[in-house]
Amino acid sequence: MITAAITAVGHYAPDKVLDNKYFESYLDTTDEWIVTRTGIRERRILEEGATSDLAVEAARRTLDQRGIGPEDIDLIIIATVTPDMFFPSTAALVQHKLGAKNAWGFDLSGACSGFLYALTTGMQFIESGRYRRVLVIGADKMSAITDYSDRNIAILFGDGGAAVLLEPSEEEGYGVLDAINFLDGSGMEALHMKGGGSWNPPTHDTVDNKMHYIYQDGRAVFKVAVVGMADVSLEIMRRNNLTSEDVAYLVPHQANMRIIQSTADRMGLPMERVMVNIDRYGNTTAATIPSCLAEYYGDGRLKRGDNLVLAAFGAGYTWGGTYVRWSI
Ligand code: UT7
Repeated sequence: MITAAITAVGHYAPDKVLDNKYFESYLDTTDEWIVTRTGIRERRILEEGATSDLAVEAARRTLDQRGIGPEDIDLIIIATVTPDMFFPSTAALVQHKLGAKNAWGFDLSGACSGFLYALTTGMQFIESGRYRRVLVIGADKMSAITDYSDRNIAILFGDGGAAVLLEPSEEEGYGVLDAINFLDGSGMEALHMKGGGSWNPPTHDTVDNKMHYIYQDGRAVFKVAVVGMADVSLEIMRRNNLTSEDVAYLVPHQANMRIIQSTADRMGLPMERVMVNIDRYGNTTAATIPSCLAEYYGDGRLKRGDNLVLAAFGAGYTWGGTYVRWSI
């Protein structure tokens, strides 16, 4: 059986930084509240351009690392909830901007679990033997749908893009080895964006009523995210006979440091074995997990042979876990 291995990984964070002090300057909030309740200290904002620009930059870095060109890509899958436009897909725009002239591609909507959904999808095309190079990208310009006058939302999100390249594994036992994904649409009430789609097409009213921004009942999502992330991570460990000693890193979606800590606790992992960058980027939705992989691989903390449990929870509700044995 062919296994899909991650053979390169790249991350792009735009230059502009919004720190917690910025929000203190005009919202009823404090750096102390934000850090203790979320773990976030600052986030990046894309001032010009769109999600495709975040994705293209992440893709370029990934291809450069592997030493291949855009024309070598067979398929581009982009997980995002902030596509440049409804159509064409952001994958189409990325394909064109990148010059990936031999690739087809599509967008996938899985919110904060989008990268794991896309990874699960991408791995099938490698496992089937159909394709040899699949680019899986998580990219979101969350600033485009964030209400900066709402302290419940404004402080949480940032912009970013990150990508992995999937290729057939050269060695048995390395690569994306298992994946579990869940969907429960009853969660829609707690986390959604009401306006802009076919349910509430854009009108003056939808704009006046702030329906083009993220709505989140934070407390409700928190409760289910803590359980969902931990349960799926434990299930991945159980199915693959992994003890906490065997897991080099938990790679969690970066929505809230307290959710991350509680997932690590349930898995019996000390925080040194948990990938964290929420302090510097906030919640970049589909980009969080691959951005962690890129940073830890980039500075040498992530090594070939490391067992990783990737876990995410987000709007839908969507959630999932993935077992990866790092191959580069
Ligand atoms: O990534 C997709 C999935 N999303 C998540 O996983 C997010 C899950 N939820 C969370 O991370 C947390 O619920 C939040 C960080 C969003 C909020 O933290 P919380 O501890 O659940 O706070 P809360 O919503 O229960 O609010 C507690 C209090 C409220 O005041 P009252 O009603 O008790 O007077 C809020 O109004 O904190 C208030 N509050 C703030 N205070 C200062 C909310 N935001 C702020 C703020 N600064 N920025």
